[in-house]
Amino acid sequence: MLGNLKDQPADKILALMASYREDPRAEKIDLGVGVYKDAQGNTPIMRAVKEAEARLLKSETTKSYVALAGDPAYAKALSELILGDALAADRMAAVATPGGTGAFRQGVDLVRMANPDATFHVSAPTWPNHLSILKTVGQPFVEYRYFDNATGEVDFDGMMEDLGKVASGDVVLVHGCCHNPTGANLTEAQWEAVADLIGERGAIAFVDLAYQGFGDGLEEDATGTRILARKLPEMLIGASCSKNFGIYRERTGLLMGLCDPAHVKTVQGNMNHLNRQNFSFPPDHGARIVTTILNDAELTADWKAELEEMRTGMLALREQLAAELRRLTNSDRFDFIARHRGMFSRLGLSPEQVEAIRKDFAVYIVGDSRINVAGLNEETVPKLAQAIAATYE
Ligand code: LMR
Repeated sequence: MLGNLKDQPADKILALMASYREDPRAEKIDLGVGVYKDAQGNTPIMRAVKEAEARLLKSETTKSYVALAGDPAYAKALSELILGDALAADRMAAVATPGGTGAFRQGVDLVRMANPDATFHVSAPTWPNHLSILKTVGQPFVEYRYFDNATGEVDFDGMMEDLGKVASGDVVLVHGCCHNPTGANLTEAQWEAVADLIGERGAIAFVDLAYQGFGDGLEEDATGTRILARKLPEMLIGASCSKNFGIYRERTGLLMGLCDPAHVKTVQGNMNHLNRQNFSFPPDHGARIVTTILNDAELTADWKAELEEMRTGMLALREQLAAELRRLTNSDRFDFIARHRGMFSRLGLSPEQVEAIRKDFAVYIVGDSRINVAGLNEETVPKLAQAIAATYE
């Protein structure tokens, strides 16, 4: 029976990780998978995380099950961080999930249970695993225009025109901040307009929030999500702590559903049920780290300070790369790199150019020309700029 299985298409981001590892060239540069790296190329455990873990080691007395929804203190702390004063606890249901991917998957399953015909409207482009999960589950999806490859900016008119055709009961998937893979984001005024349009169409928003704190700051990066939460009667939020707490392998996510208070109990029950069906109890260690940090003023301050260093470091690399490319190409063609936010920028290069950069310069970029800015440092920025400029000669 197992012999009937067919090979699955490789995940492009993970396949790139593997080919980077196999490349023997010492000067190779990894700008592939979305993992934060410091100037030495390490992904450090954040100070506050280490301290929270040390405290947990001492204080934890059991590893028994917590609850299907995870620890309510975790949902409370993280939802407050995300929604701030847009949070109305009486209209929220939430479950802990294995990472942001788990939150997305559980959210898709929940939509499927509520309305199997709901079409997901996804940005063109979006994180490839969104599409792969929707395909696996069998949920219909269509793309809305989002990124203009020629300018490196959001095609807002195109986006609004496409979202204007969304049917009632459909789902509009948006990236809360730091759009993956493009790095191009909506302004506050544009978020307002998108929220109004989704409301007018009678659709629900599904926010994937995986990089809060990596763009313009923790509060600023939640602006879009909060606008949607204030304006829409119903929405889903899939959040990840992998990046902003640097706890990738702990698989720490949260699925939140905002709805009419009269429906919260049933929505919560369905989320719990889905956790039980798919993996039973969610992972707890990462969630407990996050809760420990967010419920302690000193740890929170230290975590915010370190996150801010990471964020401003990435911004400086963006500025440096944009300036270097301006100099080498004698044009402002790549200035959008400095305007983009988060870990990623899509450069608008062809697959052939991306391949040439890998072959000739040992720089690993995802095939759609997405770079992970955090994979750079002051020394490697000029090398990347040279490699990009060379593909234009
Ligand atoms: C990425 O886009 O590189 C990250 O979200 C990691 C992943 O799992 O793909």
